[in-house]
Amino acid sequence: MSTLASLEKTALAELGACADQGALQAWNTKYFGKQGEVTLALKKVGEVPQTERPAFGREANRIKVALTKAHDDALANLKRKELERSLTEETLDVTLPGRPVQRGRLHVATQVLRRIYAIFADLGFQIYRSREVEDDLTNFELLNMPPHHPARDMWDTFHTETPGVLLRTHTSPGQIHVMRDLCPRPIRVILPGMCYRYEQITTRSEIMFHQVEGLAIGERVTMTDLKGTIVAFARRRFGEERQVRIRSSYFPFTEPSIEVDMDCIVCGGKGCSLCKRTGWLEIMGAGMVHPVVLRNGGYDPAKFSGFAFGMGPQRITMLMYAIDDIRVFWANDLRFLSQF
Ligand code: FA5
Repeated sequence: MSTLASLEKTALAELGACADQGALQAWNTKYFGKQGEVTLALKKVGEVPQTERPAFGREANRIKVALTKAHDDALANLKRKELERSLTEETLDVTLPGRPVQRGRLHVATQVLRRIYAIFADLGFQIYRSREVEDDLTNFELLNMPPHHPARDMWDTFHTETPGVLLRTHTSPGQIHVMRDLCPRPIRVILPGMCYRYEQITTRSEIMFHQVEGLAIGERVTMTDLKGTIVAFARRRFGEERQVRIRSSYFPFTEPSIEVDMDCIVCGGKGCSLCKRTGWLEIMGAGMVHPVVLRNGGYDPAKFSGFAFGMGPQRITMLMYAIDDIRVFWANDLRFLSQF
């Protein structure tokens, strides 16, 4: 019992001498650690003669509780003193300007896509999402390009190790999906998304890029509807005064096929460096849906007709902001991205 009494006295004296939290921590280990003196004293209860055991046990526990409380009080006291010291000695300059938090924003490609969605939504088009990993059948064959058809050379393709499975080279295979989904109802959709081509990367060509496809199918859809839709889009997107020019072209899945230009947004058709002195900027490929494609989608070409178009929003964005290199879109350089 006398050992216990002197243990308590020494421990309290040493606790009183602890000047900081480090010293308190060391004190705690000395008395309450695995080999700590209080821990060992408690373990010794069993060795004490039976007659003295209850009294010894009670006293050892009382000391444990008392020392724990004394330690906790001392710790709280030290923390309070530290707070008081920092409040009086350290000054806080509330007039210092704060560090600005960087604001995030949508990627320019997403912003452009959303503006295009809004325009076509106004014209009554719904957005139809279609897969990026396609099969050869849908990307080519059902679009009127049988194996070995020379027109396939227009789309350099990433093939996967699974025969017949590829990354879509354009959004046009989505035409087949949406037709098979909705046949025989009329269709008015746009199909946006990423396309992939095994091409040399240049200032104008990336191996992955967005396209926005459009498709309208109905009983009396004509070239005039296509033209009206394109003109409405060009004027809403690029200004009410825009003129549209149509040239004949070739795509296996449209007949007739056209390329669409609009008068240059910089010079208004007079000729400048943006339009390479021609006065016109190319904005999309389009045409009347080929009868073979209509039939592959489940529509009878004798009864139904349709138009389709496909544009590259990145090329259009490049025109609008005079961006001279398409690679900046996916380079993740904040100096470029934060301008939009
Ligand atoms: C097509 O891909 C056709 N599927 C478009 C179409 C749809 C025609 C429906 C008729 C009916 P083209 O290969 O021209 O066509 O590509 C369309 C647009 O995608 C181009 O005008 C261009 O803006 C964009 N594009 C094509 N290749 C790349 C590329 N490597 N990098 C960036 N944009 C590209």
